[in-house]
Amino acid sequence: MKRKPIALVLAAGKGTRFKSNLIKILHPLLGKPMVSHVLEMLRSLGIEDILVVVGYQKERVIEALQEEGVQFVVQAEQLGTAHAVLAARDKLASLLDRDLLIINGDLPILRAESLQPLIEAHFQGNNALTFVAATMGNPYGFGRVVEVAPGKYKVIEEREASPEEKRIKLANVGIYLGRIRDLLEALPQVSNDNSKKEYYLTDLIEILSCQDKKVQPFILPESEEIVGVNDRFELAQAIRVLQRRRNREFCEKGVTLLDPDSIWIEMEVEIEPDTVIWPEVILAGRTRIGRECEIESFCLIRDSKLKNKVHVFPSSVIEGSCLDDETHVGPFTHLRPGTHLRRGSRVGNFVEMKKTDFGPGSKALHLSYLGDSKVGQRVNIGAGTITCNYDGLKKYETVIEDEVFVGSGTQLVAPVKVGRGAYIGAGSTITKNVSPEALAVARSRQIEKKGWARRKKRKKE
Ligand code: UD1
Ligand code: CA
Repeated sequence: MKRKPIALVLAAGKGTRFKSNLIKILHPLLGKPMVSHVLEMLRSLGIEDILVVVGYQKERVIEALQEEGVQFVVQAEQLGTAHAVLAARDKLASLLDRDLLIINGDLPILRAESLQPLIEAHFQGNNALTFVAATMGNPYGFGRVVEVAPGKYKVIEEREASPEEKRIKLANVGIYLGRIRDLLEALPQVSNDNSKKEYYLTDLIEILSCQDKKVQPFILPESEEIVGVNDRFELAQAIRVLQRRRNREFCEKGVTLLDPDSIWIEMEVEIEPDTVIWPEVILAGRTRIGRECEIESFCLIRDSKLKNKVHVFPSSVIEGSCLDDETHVGPFTHLRPGTHLRRGSRVGNFVEMKKTDFGPGSKALHLSYLGDSKVGQRVNIGAGTITCNYDGLKKYETVIEDEVFVGSGTQLVAPVKVGRGAYIGAGSTITKNVSPEALAVARSRQIEKKGWARRKKRKKE
């Protein structure tokens, strides 16, 4: 058995048709950069040695891929796809007996299963070069594969093609597998004598064919998988394909998605069986959801961990938070980074929390803001309670110990601590620590002027 090929991913081009400040291959699909999808596919093929050709915005690309375990080669100027491969010449020079899988960086939804047979065909045929082609209903924009003589091929780019050649339906997909020795010998022969004044990698097909090297197309069935993403509409279509594929996998693993087409689950998200997700939910970043949870509609959950039997009611936003078993959240709750809801706690309508550790069985059900707080167990936070955690310069902590009852409309001016079991009267502005089991009331006494309103009315008349 031949050794696995080395892979070379072409990722140096700007992607002009995106009309973006960001290089095309870093645009995300379900939270993961386009080129990272290609890298994942290559690893699923068992390919470990991966080179990425970078050029345009190379610092950004290298930074985005720094944890991918790939090597970078720099193509300082983007003079075409053949020129991009030449940038890797020094790295490849010591690997002449190996094979190189060259792939455009804009094929994010191609699956390893689809490409595996290419590798087998290449080694079985003992080919110098095997290139992927497909018969397309509308091959516009693709290079066309021309059989110049039996078993000899060339690829002609759309812009160079004659009207007859444009009628050819067999299109070049942008994936090539070749012997490194043959590739390196032929590459310097590629010229830029064409309408774009670029060095076309596709010229290798004709060059090697003419040298009586064995060059063969590997034909894949037409599908969305092999259409390069060249503009934002194609990006949207590719994302849709990926979403369907991924949501189907979740269903197969035992997750109920009530309307898969309206549910967006990014690539790094994990969900355990028997969880139910309602329509129009977005799960983003490194989110983990346990068993038997229920996420109702219009929620956005990002970089958060929900353990088991967590229920999120509609229109809640949860970011960077941890929700323990049997917690309830929403509707209309906003949990910001650093929030930890302990087992069985409940957070309701129009409550915002940030960097708050909210103890087991505690409740904050209406219209509150808790920031930089530590709340013990079985605490009741009355409607409209607000921690005043910021003085314009610094943030301060509020500590509320176990079984405290905070009356409605209370402001807790941090730093402040409310001792275990204490009560706070409604409408209080608490500026000093409250002792355990005390009652604190901090509001001006009510005064009453009898008949005041009647007298006022008479004066007017
Ligand atoms: C290329 C093929 C075309 C094929 C099509 C499939 C050539 C000349 N043409 O055309 O036959 O049908 O893909 O989608 O190869 N890149 C670099 N450095 C460069 C230029 C490009 O790294 O100097 C990278 C790009 O970032 C991209 C890939 O190469 O990932 C392909 O380049 P692109 O300009 O998209 O080629 P196409 O015009 O699509
Ligand atoms: Ca392309």
